[in-house]
Amino acid sequence: MGEGTVASTLITHIGELVTNDPRADDLLGVIEQAAIVIEGAHVAWVGRATDAPPADEMVDAGGRAVIPGFVDSHSHLVFAGDRAAEFAARMTGTPYAAGGIRTTVAATRAATDEQLSGHVARLVAEMRRQGTTTVEIKSGYGLTVHDEARSLAVARLFTEETTYLGAHVVPDGTTAEEYVELVTGPMLEAARPHARWIDVFCERGAFDADQARAILTAGAEAGLRGRLHANQLTYGEGVRLAAELGLAAVDHCTYLSDADVDALRDSGTIATLLPGVEFSTKQPYPDARRLLDAGVRVALASDCNPGSCFTSSLPLCIALAVREMGMTPAEAVHAATYRGAQALDRADVGALVPGRRADLVLLDAPSHVHLAYRPGVPLVAATWVGGHPG
Ligand code: NIG
Ligand code: FE
Repeated sequence: MGEGTVASTLITHIGELVTNDPRADDLLGVIEQAAIVIEGAHVAWVGRATDAPPADEMVDAGGRAVIPGFVDSHSHLVFAGDRAAEFAARMTGTPYAAGGIRTTVAATRAATDEQLSGHVARLVAEMRRQGTTTVEIKSGYGLTVHDEARSLAVARLFTEETTYLGAHVVPDGTTAEEYVELVTGPMLEAARPHARWIDVFCERGAFDADQARAILTAGAEAGLRGRLHANQLTYGEGVRLAAELGLAAVDHCTYLSDADVDALRDSGTIATLLPGVEFSTKQPYPDARRLLDAGVRVALASDCNPGSCFTSSLPLCIALAVREMGMTPAEAVHAATYRGAQALDRADVGALVPGRRADLVLLDAPSHVHLAYRPGVPLVAATWVGGHPG
């Protein structure tokens, strides 16, 4: 190590350490009176504070809780403009409709790359202050070859988890058939170098299940893994399509039949619930309890976007999931960390066990329960990302 470089950090006097160790008896793998040692970018050791090995530097957590950083597996941060007026109208009864996306498309096309990356930087920093240490970012407000490719290039400046969502809505001036040709042809080619994932908004007013299948299949042939927006506004075939294709995750899952729930359980596809959307659209919340009781793996994410949900806060999503969706605080925290990592097919984040990336949050609270118990309160005292305070 160079002179002055800290090789290892011991964080001790942790009142409650949430490890998410899958080998533990309890869901969160909680260790009380705990310590953690970080070496370089990774977790080197976790256990009881009294057993902790020495390290180069020591941080005293003062009895507070430490949890894995949140993994926000669903966001749409590359956009310009806002839709505050649309939100205000919804609060007095105007329903949410997918067509509002086109408002943001116009503003996004008119923005420079620098403006777009400035907005993303601000939102990623806002997420970090609320404990998010991994974020997925979608395109989807460009909807031309050029604007989708540059949206993804901007997203890539901030995360490896970039998702091509050319199939967000059919833009003005084209037919659905023509647009699907573009999305699966030249737009896919332009997006591919910047994207890890491909997504489709499979919904009334956007794309149907046949179109979604064609787009996801073309994406898979181009080397992009699939994820899907489905069953947000009404019942439909999207969730079963995601299960059939073995996608990593299907997101929203608000309107589910028993067959949908069975398909999710049997496929292992993660159901990612986005309660900020129902908060902001005044729709009914998804029934997380039904999914968990059926054995479905459930993640929570923000869906931060200017239309259906402009929150970047996973603590808010946790509080809503506990208050409105039948999740226990432990299930909600697990869903926003461990399951979020699984929804992105990431085995290096989402847990605090030796070998995983040292992405962690020190809470200004004695336990994870406070994330739901104290809604709206900024409880993140500090974060470490890849072992670095940040
Ligand atoms: O996840 N559902 C599709 N996309 C976003 C909403 C986008 C918008 O309204 O601008 C969502 O809710
Ligand atoms: Fe979304």
